[in-house]
Amino acid sequence: MSEAKRLAAEAALKYVEDGMIVGVGTGSTVAYFIDGLARIKHQIKGTVSSSEQSTAALKAHGIDVFDLNEVGELSLYVDGADECDGAKNLIKGGGAALTREKIIAEASKQFVCIIDPSKQVKYLGKFPLPVEVIPMARSLVARTLVKMTGGQPVWRMKDETSPIITDNGNYILDLHGLQIADPAGLEAKLNQIPGVVTVGLFAQRAADVVIVGGEPPVEF
Ligand code: A5P
Repeated sequence: MSEAKRLAAEAALKYVEDGMIVGVGTGSTVAYFIDGLARIKHQIKGTVSSSEQSTAALKAHGIDVFDLNEVGELSLYVDGADECDGAKNLIKGGGAALTREKIIAEASKQFVCIIDPSKQVKYLGKFPLPVEVIPMARSLVARTLVKMTGGQPVWRMKDETSPIITDNGNYILDLHGLQIADPAGLEAKLNQIPGVVTVGLFAQRAADVVIVGGEPPVEF
């Protein structure tokens, strides 16, 4: 699938215009997009990054990374996804960067999502839904998620004893066993649980354009 990811990322470069500050997502597909941005880095003003991982990659290429607060609205955000339905609703957060990703998506006029064909689904939910939680609320949120959705939350771990800690100092619960018929409704509902920082459903602010990597890439 890596060739499909690369082809999707390359196709997204045409959305980058001279002088832009580009919002940059996180993940293996975005890594190809960052490689592409490096080739045209003298044409752009810089970037806003959604994770420490992407910031490190951008800086290694000599690309400027700005604080979102300094730049206001962005014209373009390019990011991957874990699942995408036909209405461009997404599940994101497989790389634990969902909170900053959602902030940048909200701050951007156009969100271009780059995926390989394996990410396309009829209904979201086969990929476990990531939910970022404040550490002290982990157990409360897990119980509430079970009651509200019937799904099975699993605390994301790095290894047997250490949990994944997000760039914001929080935990991730991965909610298994969902078939999501109303992504925007579920997003709104889960956002209300005290202790939830971000739900990895991008439906209230879905993608504007999806590029599925292939020869040729397909856009919708
Ligand atoms: C990062 O937290 C995610 O939202 C990524 O966008 C998603 O996991 C896609 O990753 P890949 O491009 O590595 O498949």
